[in-house]
Amino acid sequence: MTFAATILTLYPEMFPGPLGISLAGRGLREGLWTLETVQIRDFATDKHRSVDDTPAGGGAGMVLRADVLASAIDSVARADRPLLAMTPRGRPLTQDRVRDLAAGPGAIVLCGRFEGFDERIFDARGIEQVSIGDYILSGGEMAALTMLDACIRLVPGVMGAASSGMDESFETGLLEYPQYTRPVEWEGRTIPEVLRSGDHARIEAWRRAMAETDTRLRRPDLWERHEGARVQSPSGAR
Ligand code: ADE
Repeated sequence: MTFAATILTLYPEMFPGPLGISLAGRGLREGLWTLETVQIRDFATDKHRSVDDTPAGGGAGMVLRADVLASAIDSVARADRPLLAMTPRGRPLTQDRVRDLAAGPGAIVLCGRFEGFDERIFDARGIEQVSIGDYILSGGEMAALTMLDACIRLVPGVMGAASSGMDESFETGLLEYPQYTRPVEWEGRTIPEVLRSGDHARIEAWRRAMAETDTRLRRPDLWERHEGARVQSPSGAR
């Protein structure tokens, strides 16, 4: 099954952008995933082709019109795909959600600019709002590219075996352990001795300990969730 992405945007020229190079680009050329863009402005009805208007109640900026967005959305063949809108007001994207999306038929992704979308569109069309983090981008396009990149690398055939190990490690809810490569000594800093020992059990234990320490120190939020999950299932089975 291929992953079919449809992007609704005022800037279709931003796609595939970075997703047209490297492994995602090769996957796109090989048909492992597909990309379609829809210009929202094509669905404007007035002679100025306007897609936005001033906010009800006053205030700065412009708001994307629900009627224009609805026409753009309704022009797309849904094919069982989830309908997503990129917005900082959305639910934060997680690796779990990415994995679900990547395992499905694809996604239809709405990108906003300006102050945002007319709120009525979300309920009217059953749209899931997605945020990629607690900061404000100038539009949803970069957020969509980021989300798609995370999904596409999981689409079968896009990456080789290289990704699977990493994903399993993230599966544990911990940060990845630190990595090193030659030269063994660089600017007076050496690769930890254990990694050069050839003792795979020791290496495994060291990596596990490092992943735990780094997660505890850098991401106490992740660590707490990890510990909570562990207490609930002491066997380690999750
Ligand atoms: N649009 C603007 N900022 C965003 C964010 N943080 N996540 C998703 N979409 C956005």
